[in-house]
Amino acid sequence: MIKTIIITGSTDGIGKLTALKLAKEGHTIYVHGRSEAKVNAVVSEIKEASKNQNIKGLEADFSDLEAVSKLAEQIKNEIPKIDILINNAGIFKTKDTFTGKGLDYRMVVNYLAPYVLTNAILQNIKNADSPRIINLSSAAQSPVSEAVLKGKEQVSENNSYAQSKLALTMWSFHLAKQEPNITVIAVNPGSLLNTKMVKEAFGRHWSSAEKGVHILHDLAISEAYKNDSGKYFDNDKGNPKGNFAKAHPDAYDEELISKLTIKTEEIIS
Ligand SMILES: NC(=O)c1ccc[n+]([C@@H]2O[C@H](COP(=O)([O-])OP(=O)(O)OC[C@H]3O[C@@H](n4cnc5c(N)ncnc54)[C@H](OP(=O)(O)O)[C@@H]3O)[C@@H](O)[C@H]2O)c1
Repeated sequence: MIKTIIITGSTDGIGKLTALKLAKEGHTIYVHGRSEAKVNAVVSEIKEASKNQNIKGLEADFSDLEAVSKLAEQIKNEIPKIDILINNAGIFKTKDTFTGKGLDYRMVVNYLAPYVLTNAILQNIKNADSPRIINLSSAAQSPVSEAVLKGKEQVSENNSYAQSKLALTMWSFHLAKQEPNITVIAVNPGSLLNTKMVKEAFGRHWSSAEKGVHILHDLAISEAYKNDSGKYFDNDKGNPKGNFAKAHPDAYDEELISKLTIKTEEIIS
């Protein structure tokens, strides 16, 4: 069946390659990025390579939550039924530590932006028959500090990235319980895959980008994962493909999840 799929951060890396793979299967793909020129170029490239004309572009800089809300409004009006949302946009190396609004840059792009976007378009996702949300977590997961969440403390790149990824994972589990009709899965696509992010951050890689692409594709579309909502897939735990595994213990702590949700709502309001 042809699905309508939004992949955030699909102008590069595993998001772009996953978009191409799904486009080749004939699905309708919304490519998202922060640069209009790059979005347009990738839309054309995927159309040409996949021979699929149902490829469209969406633009918003995820370091700006107002831009994310504007994008959500556009999606709400233009895409009444969304089968699959892959919250893939993410950042490790940044020029600035904080956004213009004084929040931790990685926390905003990697956690707050997908939180705001997803919640705003939830009804359109629920309009699909068997919808899925795939959230890009990481092996790097560190306890979320309120100070970092609120942009009141500067920590290392590694730590802020890992906090943002645990926050995303904790919220994934929360969302899976809140929305029993949506399959919500958090995934570590594999560590040090060969992408732009990894080149910029580490200058070397452990695995091909394709390793991440295969698991993103399968979690998004394969019937095998339909009943795996509320789980964490760790693609480091196995070769060529990983397994469902335990995320950081905080992701199972209801009290911490509840605190995170309350603080998150305070920040975004
Ligand atoms: N690669 C790995 O080994 C690995 C491991 C674990 C988890 N992950 C996660 O997997 C996801 C994809 O990573 P990747 O390795 O494919 O990275 P990538 O090659 O750097 O691609 C990241 C994508 O996110 C977009 N993006 C970055 N900042 C943005 C912003 N402010 N607003 C909107 N879009 C923005 C990028 O846009 P531009 O094209 O404009 O840069 C790009 O499309 C990320 O969430 C990452 O944390 C990756």
